[in-house]
Amino acid sequence: MEVSSKNLLVDPFGRQISYLRLSVTDRCNFRCIYCMSEEMEFLPKSKVLSLEELYLIGKAFNELGVSKIRLTGGEPLVRNDIVSLAKKLSNLPRLHELVMTTNGALLQHMALPLRDAGIKRLNISIDSLDRRSFRNLTRYGNLEQVERGIEAALEVGFDRIKLNSVILKGKNDNEVIDLVNFARDKDLDLTFIEEMPLGNIKTHQRKETLMTSEKLRNLISSHYMLRPLGEPGKLDGPSRYYGMEGTRTKIGFISPHSNNFCHLCNRVRVTAEGRLLLCLGHENSIDLRAILRNKKANFEDLKRAIVTGLSNKPLSHEFKENHEPAVLRFMNATGG
Ligand code: 5AD
Ligand code: SF4
Repeated sequence: MEVSSKNLLVDPFGRQISYLRLSVTDRCNFRCIYCMSEEMEFLPKSKVLSLEELYLIGKAFNELGVSKIRLTGGEPLVRNDIVSLAKKLSNLPRLHELVMTTNGALLQHMALPLRDAGIKRLNISIDSLDRRSFRNLTRYGNLEQVERGIEAALEVGFDRIKLNSVILKGKNDNEVIDLVNFARDKDLDLTFIEEMPLGNIKTHQRKETLMTSEKLRNLISSHYMLRPLGEPGKLDGPSRYYGMEGTRTKIGFISPHSNNFCHLCNRVRVTAEGRLLLCLGHENSIDLRAILRNKKANFEDLKRAIVTGLSNKPLSHEFKENHEPAVLRFMNATGG
């Protein structure tokens, strides 16, 4: 029996899933201190989905009604042949938008091929504009390289580029206004993400370094008039956006701690090893790779597994007040 595409991706709480975040690798050329530990073990190649498998997953979700796919990692640009995957995915018939989250380090030479492959928008992570502090936060990152990446992306003209920053008290909280000014001067959007308790890290106590969205908003408000652009909506995801007087720049805040946005959730994630994660804050997952590699299973079985999986999507992430890791997988294994 063929799985039909009508309204099949609706979870038990009535949320229509239209957005897939697809991690193409767990590897990264950075080791951001809030995302990874210093010593990381990455998946052996055999456990990572092949390009063809990644494509089949995108195709299955698209046939089931997903209209937006974000390629993430790890760092998606360290994956070989990412451009050819992007090309194939952007040709899926019901896809409205193919977008990507990247750390920008390899963008200088990749921006043009990515845009030509059909990537419409980019999110670029940048937590500091100070060389030393950037290096400290990313462990391996080179700020100038990322800045060149951002320039290249601006030159080739994506529909929109958004910066993402995670602010940690005592590390880069003195750079909030610099980051806002940078975004404003370059006509980019900027979202501040509260650090989430994913994976065990040793560099800092998350409870102590948390900068809440409220604190950041108050700080920015003392420099700029922020005008609320409405409640988080399905299209904009969990961000709460503000306009800045006299600019096109939108400043967003993602506040998993102070603001639960789960009731609006329209997304699921697939990890680089093919686990369908139903929620960022839960361990439960469905092994799509096993179906892809099962010689007796076919494409319809894959779609059926996705539909069945969705009936287990939890209502909420339940990140704890004490900031203990809710789940032990790191963000790079989750798919940023
Ligand atoms: N909490 C919040 N954001 C995180 N990111 C990575 N790990 C975490 C975490 N523990 C962010 C990165 C990047 C995006 C992919 O996810 O900064 O912007
Ligand atoms: Fe890499 Fe992004 Fe994680 Fe930093 S946050 S280590 S750039 S995956």
